[in-house]
Amino acid sequence: MANWLDREGKAMAFSHIDLSIVPQVEGFFDPASNTISYLVQDPSTASCAIIDSVLDIDYAAGRISYESADQLIEVVKSRNLSLEWIIETHVHADHLSAAPYIQDKIGGKIGVGSRITEVQDTFGKVFNEGTDFQRDGSQFDALFEDGDTYKVGEMTCLALATPGHTPACMVHVIGNAAFAGDTLFMPDGGSARADFPGGDAGELYDSIQRVLSLPDEMRLFICHDYGPGGREVAWETTVGEQKDKNIHVGGGKSRDEFIAFRTERDAQLAMPKLIIPSLQVNMRAGEIPQDEDGKPVLKVPINGL
Ligand SMILES: [Fe+2]
Repeated sequence: MANWLDREGKAMAFSHIDLSIVPQVEGFFDPASNTISYLVQDPSTASCAIIDSVLDIDYAAGRISYESADQLIEVVKSRNLSLEWIIETHVHADHLSAAPYIQDKIGGKIGVGSRITEVQDTFGKVFNEGTDFQRDGSQFDALFEDGDTYKVGEMTCLALATPGHTPACMVHVIGNAAFAGDTLFMPDGGSARADFPGGDAGELYDSIQRVLSLPDEMRLFICHDYGPGGREVAWETTVGEQKDKNIHVGGGKSRDEFIAFRTERDAQLAMPKLIIPSLQVNMRAGEIPQDEDGKPVLKVPINGL
């Protein structure tokens, strides 16, 4: 049992957190998008999950390929693991998801936060998608509500709603490991931006407080790292370390301070290089959109973002 904060900030007991379960976690770093994909293995069965996979794209050439996904698939196969879940912590704006490609090869259910419908609604308009594009999340196998649990082998996994970077963002807690998605980066990297449509710096602060209310010793795995100050890329930290040292929220920074800082900083950030292809693919659970002849094609809306 651990105390943690619910969305209103009240302390509540939560029985699904079990620090005695120590999943085997391996990060796979994609240098093209600075994304870390995770393979999470149940220590007591041959079950596993993949979190935030990457589909490779040469956007200038309009060419996609599968080296990153094939690497994950190969590891799962070589260890005779059973892939139960393919988790998207959110609709990423900086890389494409390989979820359906992986599912096609080795199975697994694709899960995302239930507020994906809001993201689909927002970007369905931005990309002027027709009525063929469903905004009900039906492209995914599971839509998680806040506090939902699912199983990977004998491990009970917990999905926590952490909106702010996007409405559908979730942090997934599996045993003594939490997968931060785009809430916090490494302590010297700070926090994710909150200026995409549907983002909100205040909400992000509240969500981060929620993550920081998890047990101090919980391992925290980060979705992106850019090696600030020239240090080696890294992706594992702890909740306690974030509380002490995170440059954006550590040491008890206030909500107002965070909102002011985040808003000013976000105004200076360029759009991610792959935001246009990423959103179109990821809001479809990783499927490439097709034109009326069934050919895979991406759009570029002019001044749409
Ligand atoms: Fe993101």
